[in-house]
Amino acid sequence: MEYYELLAKRRMYRHFSRQPVPDPVLKRILEAATRGPSAGFTQGFDFLVLNQRPALDKFWELAITEDWKEKTTSHQGLWNAPVVVLPLANPDAYLSRYSEKDKSYANLVTERDWPIPFWFIDTAFATMLMLNSVVNENLGALFFGLFRNVDLIKNAFRIPDTFHPIGAVAIGFPTSDTKSSSAKRPRREQSSQIHFNTFS
Ligand SMILES: Cc1cc2nc3c(=O)[nH]c(=O)nc-3n(C[C@H](O)[C@H](O)[C@H](O)COP(=O)(O)O)c2cc1C
Repeated sequence: MEYYELLAKRRMYRHFSRQPVPDPVLKRILEAATRGPSAGFTQGFDFLVLNQRPALDKFWELAITEDWKEKTTSHQGLWNAPVVVLPLANPDAYLSRYSEKDKSYANLVTERDWPIPFWFIDTAFATMLMLNSVVNENLGALFFGLFRNVDLIKNAFRIPDTFHPIGAVAIGFPTSDTKSSSAKRPRREQSSQIHFNTFS
């Protein structure tokens, strides 16, 4: 697939069949995610991949309520996705890397010293690579926020305390095309969004 065609084609899907994602395909998608840039080449992001039903069922049990599951029309079938990946940002890896000789000049000693937390940036870049690779494999994905029970989810899957899931990515074979309320918003005019040489 041509690169710009792929970007234009990418969008979030919220309904999946239970058809499994073949292992080699999943492997390619995950490998792509590890190819992202990272500050100081810290690579301070991990991925928790849930691709077995008991693990997936546990995740959904904690991540969403029965009430929402019944009521949502935009996300019916999200929980059928055969794969859910939690991209995990690890600030400690950055604190450690930036205490090394070639980086210590920056004086980024505690998390609060970082004007922008690079661990979230790097983890998001990696996640974007995953989303694009999903398109390249003719699958669908949804990146979604975790709004409840994050500590319980971390506990259930033995995620170390210092790792923060930036959200979750459901991956699978999309079954329908219902857009969320957000996706119905119009795309911004590029002329109002891209500023050449001066902002205004
Ligand atoms: C940080 C972030 C959080 C998001 N959280 C959710 C979410 O919780 N639920 C959801 O359905 N979509 C979520 N989305 C998807 C957006 O709604 C979607 O990207 C946007 O509407 C544009 O649609 P498109 O990605 O299909 O082009 C999220 C996207 C991002 C980047």
